[in-house]
Amino acid sequence: MVVHSATLQINEAMQARRGRGEPVVHLGFGEAGLPVLPEVAEVLRQSADLNSYGPVTGDPHVRASAAGYLTRRGIATEAPQVLFAPGSKALLFALMTTLPGDVVLPTPSWVTYAAQAAMTGKEVVPVPIPAGCGGVPDPELLGPALTAARADGVAPGIVLLTLPDNPTGTTADAQTVKRVCEIAQEQGLVVVSDEIYRDLAEQPQAVTSPAALLDDHVVITGGLSKSLALGGWRIGFARTPATPWGDELMHQLVGVASEVWSCLATPMQAAARFVLDDPDVVTERVAASRRLHLAVSRAMYEVFVESGATCRPPSAAFYQYPDLEPLRDGFARHGAHTAAAAAALLLDRHGIGVLPGDAFGDEPEALRFRVATSLLYGEGQQRLDALTSDHPAHLPWIAPALDTVRHALRELA
Ligand SMILES: Cc1ncc(COP(=O)(O)O)c(C=O)c1O
Repeated sequence: MVVHSATLQINEAMQARRGRGEPVVHLGFGEAGLPVLPEVAEVLRQSADLNSYGPVTGDPHVRASAAGYLTRRGIATEAPQVLFAPGSKALLFALMTTLPGDVVLPTPSWVTYAAQAAMTGKEVVPVPIPAGCGGVPDPELLGPALTAARADGVAPGIVLLTLPDNPTGTTADAQTVKRVCEIAQEQGLVVVSDEIYRDLAEQPQAVTSPAALLDDHVVITGGLSKSLALGGWRIGFARTPATPWGDELMHQLVGVASEVWSCLATPMQAAARFVLDDPDVVTERVAASRRLHLAVSRAMYEVFVESGATCRPPSAAFYQYPDLEPLRDGFARHGAHTAAAAAALLLDRHGIGVLPGDAFGDEPEALRFRVATSLLYGEGQQRLDALTSDHPAHLPWIAPALDTVRHALRELA
């Protein structure tokens, strides 16, 4: 059975609490929480009359824009290597249905990968992430995990990387990505690199894409849901290699696309084209968003670390993945011994919504949680003020959320 995605579920629980007038600190949903850039909204308005089905791949102009976008980020790409879809989630699903073999997932990793693997009849080979970063399997553990999986009759064919990562808010360093790519190549695995957070890394140009290291058997997925906060517009794209293997994969993906979504909505293609050409107004908005996300994420990280929790320092997007093991006695006093019970306690007692690590494939007993700070920026003008603030974590509509978490953790300590 396919269950309701954990992230969407907590979002609904928090909305219900809010609806009852109860205070909430919503740290459970990875939505970018910022307004649409007016210039992008204007492009969409101007495109409302585009009502024909377009080519399944996306029209040649928007494919060329995505190719330019990737090329400017160090991944030389031509338009025919790009496929658009209503969200990168759809593309990840198409890849799961198309690529043979089971899936190696870093643990923890984004909730949807394992769910999609299950839906497409694939086994998951979980491999813990390294101590320093998430989004990749620990290269030291990857080889032995593959050997053990094969001995169990599992046939790994894909390794999925998230660069930068959700849930940890970190980016694997170049050396680690290189090592994982070498193992993938030696072992005949296709690398799928989910780079939807790339432009929200502290140093986007320092993010090493596997596509810069491997000429073949590597696919990038990306989109505008995070960097431009356009999740509801559903704009995603994938890049396949310029090789016979890549051409064949593109052919198969287009087959899936043609039978499932037909094409990315044509007005959205116009919006994507505008954004992916990297006009200054977009570059500036993405830079301001990156600053805001990191400032608030780091402020929340400090709150957790002050409480005694351990956590990888966030360097991308709007996530932290604290380990509250040092507070275990405090949770136990309230009868909470698992991440799910601890998350329920934080919600019931303090109105704080976080996602337990087991939603990301982590051990249910470990007191690890994904914390997303991107819904703390307020409403309307507040969000615009947050985007331009030098100290957004001190703003009067953001600081109280940090205080609520600080007090809750103190009470548990
Ligand atoms: C790692 C990761 N990949 C993909 C997505 C979804 O992207 P899209 O909106 O393009 O489907 C998300 C959204 O939460 C994500 O965290």
